[in-house]
Amino acid sequence: MFIRIPSSLEILKRIGAIGGKRGIRIYLVGGPVRDIILGKTSIDLDLVSETPAQQVASILADELKGKVTFFPEFLTARIEWEEGTIDVATARREYYPVPAALPEVIPATMREDLKRRDFTINAMALSLHPDNFGELFDPFGGYEDLKEGVIRFLHPKSFVDDPTRILRGLRFSARFGFRFEETTERHIKKDKDGLLLISGERRRKEVRLLLREGLPAIRLLEKYELLPLLGFSSLHCINPPEDAQKLFSLSDPWFFYFILLTWEKEISLLERLYCLRKEEREEIIKTRKIVELEDEKEIVLSMRGLSPAALATLYAKGVTLSLDFFKKIDTLKVETSGGEIVQKGFQGREIGRILEELFYLRFKGIVRTKEDEERWIERLKKG
Ligand code: CTP
Repeated sequence: MFIRIPSSLEILKRIGAIGGKRGIRIYLVGGPVRDIILGKTSIDLDLVSETPAQQVASILADELKGKVTFFPEFLTARIEWEEGTIDVATARREYYPVPAALPEVIPATMREDLKRRDFTINAMALSLHPDNFGELFDPFGGYEDLKEGVIRFLHPKSFVDDPTRILRGLRFSARFGFRFEETTERHIKKDKDGLLLISGERRRKEVRLLLREGLPAIRLLEKYELLPLLGFSSLHCINPPEDAQKLFSLSDPWFFYFILLTWEKEISLLERLYCLRKEEREEIIKTRKIVELEDEKEIVLSMRGLSPAALATLYAKGVTLSLDFFKKIDTLKVETSGGEIVQKGFQGREIGRILEELFYLRFKGIVRTKEDEERWIERLKKG
């Protein structure tokens, strides 16, 4: 079967032709094939060839005037060129020396390369060779599953080998509204404890991608009883408002949901499970504290420097002032510097206090310009 490739993806023809000139067959594989069939026009460029990636990537980089980096232990290469990034891999097999660890790889055929993948919908390749440009290589029935909206793994050991696939499956199910095929679904339930074995960095990466999909993804975590395994509270405890993501313009809502889902959990547990970054840790602690505050001024001052995700969390937790704060955020900048306040005859702790007061007055709309600030400071001086 041939798949119609949109003309905006002209680059695929070019890549195929560059390979074809040298007798090399290059394929587009995995997620981008799925996405083209689903009608997406912006895709990742993930290429595979049975010819070594090093050779393929060098040729492509040469012609496209890109810069190439090799990762010999993974048999992959990455090209950075003026229009973005292209990933190239040698067709490879994987084996898992230890379950849930990263696999080791050896060169293989295209079929074997597809067979090692997570789900049938992600195990298709499109030929880019000029001889059969756009021909679909689909040995596991991915096309039909895609049309039927089914997520099906390729073998029953799949989730044991790589438990992150459970989270990936949920991600695709949430994103596309697909259902799991029966055996695959049974194995989610059976093999889910494997998620306890993966490293913090892998858990972080997958959960982050999953939470990007928003509430539908969280509902699936609840449905498959995965929330406790990830250190999350159940959905009825957190009750995130549907509109928070929109109100706070969160293009990536992962951290918003993450703070909510882990609200009652010890920070040390989250550090262990998710390799929290220092800024994230601090933001979570600060957000939790603000919810306990009552004084408006104290709340406003504490919200300084918080990300939109943290402000959205506060909103979800009933601190509705955070929406007002978010809307005004661009105007909440005190223009008078500490040095200027010193020049006006103030010193020590007074300076910080004046800056805070000015910030709060900006928030209240009482002070709007630098002149307003100066007038207010003058008045303060006169007592
Ligand atoms: N893959 C896999 N098992 C994993 C990770 C990836 O089999 N644990 C395979 C899948 O074939 C996947 C491809 O590698 O399609 C590329 O991985 P990635 O870019 O992470 O996934 P995409 O399917 O492209 O997802 P997205 O659309 O969210 O980028």
